[in-house]
Amino acid sequence: MPSPSIIVTRRLPAPIEEALVRDYGAVLNPDDHQFNADELRDALQRFDIVLCTLTDRLTRDVLMVAGRRARFLANFGVGLNHIDLAAAREAGLMVSNTPGVLTEDTADLTMLLLLAAARRAWEGDRELRAGLWTGWRPTHLLGTRLSGKTLGIAGLGRIGEAVARRARLGFGMSVAYWSRTRRPEVESELSVTWCPTLRELLGQSDFVTLHCPATADTRHLINADTLASMRSGAFLVNTSRGDVVDEAALLEALRSGRLAGAALDVFEGEPAVNPRLLSLANVTTLPHLGSATIESRVAMGERVLRNIGAFVTGAPLPDRVD
Ligand code: GLV
Repeated sequence: MPSPSIIVTRRLPAPIEEALVRDYGAVLNPDDHQFNADELRDALQRFDIVLCTLTDRLTRDVLMVAGRRARFLANFGVGLNHIDLAAAREAGLMVSNTPGVLTEDTADLTMLLLLAAARRAWEGDRELRAGLWTGWRPTHLLGTRLSGKTLGIAGLGRIGEAVARRARLGFGMSVAYWSRTRRPEVESELSVTWCPTLRELLGQSDFVTLHCPATADTRHLINADTLASMRSGAFLVNTSRGDVVDEAALLEALRSGRLAGAALDVFEGEPAVNPRLLSLANVTTLPHLGSATIESRVAMGERVLRNIGAFVTGAPLPDRVD
C-alpha cells in the first residue's frame, strides 16, 4: 500500500511529530489552533488518516461530508466522546484510541485534586499570592483528612482502579465503587466494596470521584437528583469529562453548602468555564491536565504511531474502537 496521507490536528510532542513527518510526510498544525467544522471537513476530504484529538468535534454532520477520502481516525487520547462513533462506523471510518498509557498519570492527578480539595490547597495559594497571610494560627484554613474516609469511585476501569490502589494502599482510605462491570479480582486484591447502584455509592462516600466515559448514558450522571444522595459535607472530584456533571446542579449544591467542595479538571463547556464555579472558594480547578505529563503524552503519541503502522500494513489495529 502506498504511504497514506496524514493530517495532524494539534501540536504533538516533538519526537512524535518528527516520526510522523519522517515516515509519512504528515501535515502538521504549526500554530496549534483548534480546527473548526470546515477545517475538519476539509481534512476528511483531503487525507487518508486524520490524527485527531479531543478538541475536534467530529459530529455526524462533519463526518458525513461529501467526497470523503479519510478511512481512519487515529485519536490521540482515550476518551472518544468528541467523535460520533455511530456515524464514523456508517462512514466506514476506522477509529483507534490510546488506552492504558495515561492511566497512572490521570490517577495521580485525581489524588492531587482529592488532596487539594480536602486540604484547601488552592485557597491557601490564593491567600499567599494576595499578600493576605498573617502567619500560622491553630484555626487557619482547616481542611479534612483523607485517611479513614470513604472514597466512592464511579467507574472502575483502568483509571478508577489505579485511583482505588492509591487511595487504599497510599492514603488509608476505604474504597467503594459502582461500575458497569463488576471487578471481583480488584475487590479481593484491594479490599474495595462494590455498590449495586450509584445512589448507594453516593450515600456512603465522603469523597466521590468520577471515572466513567462520557456517553449518552452517563451525561449528567451527577445531577440535582443524584447530588441529593451525596452525604452532606462530601467532596466531588471529576477528571473524566465535563458532560458527566450537571454543572448548574453542582453549583447549587456547592453554593448551599451541601457539598463541602469540588475539584474539577474537566468542564461542560470547556475551554469556557462557568465564572460562577470560579468564584467559589470551595471549588478547585485545573485546565484538563489529567494526562499532561511528558511521559504520558509521548506514550500516547507512540500508541498512535503503532495504530497508524498497523493501518498502513493492513494489520489489525491494536487499539481499534468499535
Ligand atoms: C484525555 O482526557 C483523554 O481522553 O485521553
